[in-house]
Amino acid sequence: MKIATAIIGGTGVYDPGMLDNTSEKVMVTPYGEALVLVGDYNGQAVAFLTRHGRKHTVPPHRINYRANLYALKMLGVEQIVATTAVGSLNKAMGPGHFALPDQFLDFTKHREHTFFDGEDGRVVHIDVTEPYCPRLRSTIAACAGQLGYVCHNGGTYVCAEGPRFETPAEIKMFHQLGGDLVGMTNVPEVVLAREAEMCYATISIVTNFAAGMSDSPLTHQEVLGVMKDSANRFRSLIASVLDKLTQADCACRHALRELGGFQLKA
Ligand code: HPA
Repeated sequence: MKIATAIIGGTGVYDPGMLDNTSEKVMVTPYGEALVLVGDYNGQAVAFLTRHGRKHTVPPHRINYRANLYALKMLGVEQIVATTAVGSLNKAMGPGHFALPDQFLDFTKHREHTFFDGEDGRVVHIDVTEPYCPRLRSTIAACAGQLGYVCHNGGTYVCAEGPRFETPAEIKMFHQLGGDLVGMTNVPEVVLAREAEMCYATISIVTNFAAGMSDSPLTHQEVLGVMKDSANRFRSLIASVLDKLTQADCACRHALRELGGFQLKA
């Protein structure tokens, strides 16, 4: 059966819970191995990948983003719904709210961030005017609305290198630059999905106001606590999205059309 849809689980989302007949696949890619869980949801095959590993052992700057995204492409995946925990820089986006970023600012430093390193003699500049799939975002926003969840459709995700949290001075700068949310994983994930012509959207859950915006220092426990409290809402939202998603064609799947499309390596 074709596996058109994938979920990438971020911090706190390690168990899809809703898939039947699951099997684990170790995908061998030109960039290394990736572990993918494949199962059925109401008759459709769905792939599930935990970004930080099954036991949250891989920090954001060490994730093998290229292997993960390439593995999904090898399985035939056409659309990806990812989850991310984020801090908020925007007073209107409070802890416990969902947000669907539509833009990003890239402050990463040391990551393999492209499938096109020039080794095959090709120079590729992917268009990222619309990095996050608008079709996926509007489906997710509609599902969140039906479930009665607060969900902001749009916002600028600032990707910090981590693994440390930010200084209040950095947060002030990100805010002045137009950032709404800050996390450590969406870049290069969203870019690699686009290069590989897969629709991609991320459901961010705000776990905290960013550094310097609240009275107490930020802890990883605080982030995990909000994620734990939100786990059931996350599961319901993902299940509802899987029910509603169509396989409609989309411009994201032709992002490399002028270069003949994305080719898996022989
Ligand atoms: N900063 C960076 N990443 C995060 C945060 C934050 O405040 N909260 C959750 N992930």
